[in-house]
Parts: sequence; C-alpha cells; structure tokens
Amino acid sequence: MSDELRDATRVVRAGLPHATPGAPYLPGPTFAAPYHAAGDVVDSPYTYGRFHNPTWTHYERALEELEGGPTVLFPSGMAATAALLGTVLRAGQKIVMPDDCYYTTRLIATQYFATHGIEVVMAPTANDAQRALLDGAVLLWLESPTNPGLDVCDIAALSAAAHDVGALVAVDNTTATVLGQRPLALGADFAVVSDTKAMTGHADVVLGHVAAKDAMWADALRTWRTRMGSIPGPMEVWLAHRSLGTLDVRLARQCESAMQMATFLLSHAKVRGVRYPGLPNDPSHAIASKQMTRFGPVISFELDGRAEVERFFAAATLVHEATSFGGIHTSAERRARWGADAVSEGFVRLSIGLEDVRDLLNDFATALAAV
Ligand SMILES: Cc1ncc(COP(=O)(O)O)c(C=O)c1O
Repeated sequence: MSDELRDATRVVRAGLPHATPGAPYLPGPTFAAPYHAAGDVVDSPYTYGRFHNPTWTHYERALEELEGGPTVLFPSGMAATAALLGTVLRAGQKIVMPDDCYYTTRLIATQYFATHGIEVVMAPTANDAQRALLDGAVLLWLESPTNPGLDVCDIAALSAAAHDVGALVAVDNTTATVLGQRPLALGADFAVVSDTKAMTGHADVVLGHVAAKDAMWADALRTWRTRMGSIPGPMEVWLAHRSLGTLDVRLARQCESAMQMATFLLSHAKVRGVRYPGLPNDPSHAIASKQMTRFGPVISFELDGRAEVERFFAAATLVHEATSFGGIHTSAERRARWGADAVSEGFVRLSIGLEDVRDLLNDFATALAAV
C-alpha cells in the first residue's frame, strides 16, 4: 500500500487480501490446531496453530503497512513487551528504562529480568533524562507519552544517542498508536504496542504487537512466540483487524473531544495538574508537536484527594470507572488505587471516548460541582 495514501484510507484497506470473487473483504477467523500437511510440509504455509495462522497473517500485514516494519502479534501488550525484552536481553547486559512507564513493564524488568542478571537502570521520561545513563546499554526502552503521567521524550534525539553507543531502541507506543506517532520513522528499532487500548478500541480484546525495523529481529520475535507458545487467539486478531478500519475516525473524534475536555478542566476551579500533550502550555507540548500527529485520547488531572475523586465518580453518569484507555467509552480511574505509580491520591487518568463532547462537558460540570 502506498505511503502517499492518508491515514483514513490506509486503515480501511490495510492487510486485506487480494479481491477474490465470492470471498469476503476480510476472511473470517481461522480456528485450527493442525492443518492438512501431508508428506514433505516444508512448503506448506500453515502446518500447526502455534506456528502460524492466516488470521494473524492478515492483521500482521496490516500493521506492517502502517508501522513501516515487519510485525509480530502477541496475546497481550505485556506478552509483546516480555517477548521483546526476552529476545534482546542476555545476562550481563544493561537496559535503560523510564521510571514512570507503565508499571507492569517496570515490574517485569525489576522483578524478573533484574533477577536474571540484567542490569536495569531507570530515569524519568521528561527532559530526556535517560540519555545520561546510556553508556554500556544494549537496549533503551522509551514510553512516550507515558501512562499515566503523559510526559514525553524526544524519540529521534534519544534514538540517535542510543545508536551512538550501540544500543537498540524500543518505544512503547500504546498511548499514541501508529496513527499518532511512528516510532520506526523517528529512528527507533521497535514499536511495542498494547492493541488492547485505542488500536482495537471497543473494550473487548486483549492483544499486543511488536513492529521491528529489521526483519532479523522480527524473525527472532516470531521464534520466541512459537517456542514460548505466546500466541494470540484468532478471534481476538480478527476483531482487531475489523476494528482497525475505524481507527482514524475514532481517534479524530477522541482527540478533538480530549482537547476540548482538557481546556475545560484547565479552567475549572476544583481541578489542578491538568496534563494533555495537546495543550499549548503543557510541558510535553513542544516535543509532542514535533513527533506526534495527534495528541491522543488520554488526559490526566488532579482533585484534592481520594474522597473528592470518589464523589466525582458517584456523580458522573458518562464515565466508566475502569482501568484501561483508548476505547469508545469515556473511562477514568483514580490511579493511586493500585499503589504502583508516583501520583497523588487525587490523580485521575481520563480517557475520552466517542460520546458527544457536549454531553461529556455537561456531565463533567455536574460531577465536579458535586465534588
Ligand atoms: C503503556 C502500556 N503498555 C503496555 C500495556 C500492557 O498491555 P496489556 O494490558 O495489553 O498487556 C499497557 C496496559 O495498560 C499500557 O498502558
């Protein structure tokens, strides 16, 4: 598919097989453990369900067209993260990570990889602080914007600095998605994504992927998937591919509404600490404007404390209290309830959905009045 085509066109067409009379645009999910594979099966494209699946092939091709590099699916964002770390890192090597990235990523680094001989060093995302730790690293892990703090780092500059010391660069691009930011084009070696969030967007699928700049690494990740058995279900992958066609329209509405909501929250007397990379005065805005084409559906803000957030949720009628983001339903959570992020008791991560923003603004005005 041509790079000249615009996002809305690309997502609708991505990964669809050639038109065959009588066949659907996107073939349904293939449910198979063994495939017919008599005799010498070396040339058979599909032999066994842990090795490959035609439904994966279609969605992987779609993602490859969008990400700009061969892509490997995994059953969750964390499975994709674990596969990347497990494939690249060996005992005695060093990884540099953000100390404010998604908390389970930090947990598997410190509780699993660090206990298996990997040196894990961390610095904040803001101000590209990881740059100072790069010496001797084999992998730089970035997450931009971060979940939940929404800080950003300069992916192109940090990738160049990491390559100077011979390190590979992986970017967790879950918050932005490939339509908001293209890590491989910015110089990173890998984009790692939880498709559970905006990529699929309907709160009904858990899935992940890694896109690699170099086909050699994609092959290594595929080998990891086959050997470890870290495989996605065909139904989930088919749902993801079907949902991809609406990614552009979903994000367009979500980002426009998020901008209006962030502006509203910024001016509200009971709200402080509003973070949204699209806000002109946000600390993330300058770099986000340089490397992102859309600022995403996620906003963070603070109320005075836990009781205030609980009153907000009790009064809001259009906000699901839930721990995910990027979907069609507006949702939010008091992040301190997990005890894993360095946030205040009143810190809220909010994800704007597809509801009419006028209804959302009214609902927020009412809910904040009750705080
Ligand atoms: C930034 C980020 N990366 C990775 C993950 C893990 O994704 P999954 O829940 O699909 O395993 C999440 C999940 O919240 C996330 O927010």
